[in-house]
Order: sequence, then structure tokens, then C-alpha cells
Amino acid sequence: MNFKNWKASLFCLTLAGLLVSPALIFADQPQGRKEISLYGGKSGPVLFPHHTHQKVVKDCQVCHVNFAQKEGALDSAKKSGDLKKKQMMNKTCLKCHRALKKAGEKSGPTSCKKCHIK
Ligand code: HEC
Ligand code: HEC
Ligand code: HEC
Repeated sequence: MNFKNWKASLFCLTLAGLLVSPALIFADQPQGRKEISLYGGKSGPVLFPHHTHQKVVKDCQVCHVNFAQKEGALDSAKKSGDLKKKQMMNKTCLKCHRALKKAGEKSGPTSCKKCHIK
């Protein structure tokens, strides 16, 4: 490679770096609402710390495979029958909290009243 080509490729790499780095930085920023009040039927609403979970769970799809990244999407999925009532609670929220607790790691609530606030 001659000097001119070397300079050209360095310029391209720098340019690519400048374009890519903001995307990497923003990927680390929490997204959506920080705290979300979820419908919990007669047991009362569930105060869900969304941003905390983005930090500890990392893979958005662990939850969002079940409903879109859109306000109200969880209730819509339950109304349309794509998700059964309490399916998210039992198969995702509680499943993870119980597994972490069993493994002796930092976890979330596993009793009704710690999640559902009346
Ligand atoms: C532990 C479960 C969980 C994880 C992990 C999770 N989310 Fe969410 N997210 C939710 C819930 C619950 C809602 C509320 C949906 C509703 O309003 O019906 C939501 C809603 C959203 C919304 C819609 C705006 C809002 O605040 O309601 C966006 C955008 C979003 N999430 C982005 C993300 C991204 C990006 C990640 C990964 C970095 C992520 N979520 C990880 C559970 C989760
Ligand atoms: C880790 C938090 C958590 C715990 C613990 C928990 N829940 Fe829930 N519960 C939720 C979430 C989130 C929803 C909404 C999503 C869904 O329906 O799966 C919900 C939904 C519900 C609903 C409403 C379903 C509907 O759409 O009508 C009822 C009733 C309910 N829970 C009862 C209970 C009872 C009883 C217990 C204890 C045995 C319990 N929950 C423990 C988080 C929790
Ligand atoms: C893949 C694992 C995982 C899933 C899925 C998950 N959680 Fe958690 N949750 C955690 C961990 C880990 C913590 C402890 C976070 C901490 O203390 O920093 C936690 C903490 C919590 C807390 C307590 C926060 C506090 O400030 O004490 C609540 C409430 C909670 N989770 C509700 C939910 C609900 C509702 C869902 C389902 C919509 C859910 N979680 C799904 C791992 C999970």
C-alpha cells in the first residue's frame, strides 16, 4: 500500500468511527419509561422499574419477545389473546426472580404483595 492509499484508508476508518460511536453510546442509554405502572387486576397495579431491568437483564427480548416496545403493548397482547393473563408474570417475571434467588444472586420480589401494590 502506498502512502496516499494509507492516508485515505485512515481517513475512512476515522469517518466510520465517528459515525458508529454515537450508536454505541446511545445503545447503552436506558429507553422508554423509567417506571411503569402495569395493570394487575384485583391484586392491584405493579410498579415495574423498567430502566433497572434494562441494566440487569440487558437482552430486551427476554421481555419484548412477548409484546412490542410500545406503551400499552402488554395489555393489547393480553386483549388479543397473544398473551394469556398472568403469562408474563409467571413465565417471565417470576421465573427469573425465582431462578436468581435459588442461585443465591441479587433478585426481585417473588411474593404477591411485593409486586402488586394496593
Ligand atoms: C423485564 C422486562 C423488560 C425488559 C428486559 C425490557 N423491557 Fe421495555 N418494556 C417492558 C414493559 C412491561 C413495558 C410496558 C409495556 C406497556 O405499556 O404495555 C415496556 C415498554 C417499552 C417501551 C415503550 C415505551 C414505554 O416506556 O412504555 C420501549 C421503547 C421499551 N420498552 C424499550 C426497551 C428496550 C430498548 C429494552 C432493552 C434495552 C427493554 N425495553 C427491556 C418490559 C421490559
Ligand atoms: C414479580 C412481580 C409479580 C409477582 C410476585 C406477582 N405478580 Fe401478579 N402480575 C405481575 C405482572 C407484571 C402482571 C401483568 C402481566 C400479566 O398479566 O402477566 C400481573 C398480573 C396479575 C393479575 C391480573 C391478570 C389479568 O390480566 O387479569 C393478577 C390477578 C395477579 N397478577 C395476581 C397475582 C398473585 C395472586 C400473586 C401471588 C401469588 C402475584 N400476582 C404475584 C407481577 C407479579
Ligand atoms: C431475567 C431476569 C428478570 C426478569 C425477566 C424480570 N426481573 Fe425483576 N428483577 C431482576 C433483578 C436481577 C432484580 C434486582 C435488581 C436490583 O436490585 O438491582 C429485579 C428487581 C425487581 C423489582 C424490585 C426493584 C427494587 O427496586 O427493589 C421489581 C418490582 C421487579 N423486579 C419486577 C419485575 C417485573 C414486574 C417483571 C416482569 C415484567 C420482572 N421484574 C422481570 C431480574 C428480572
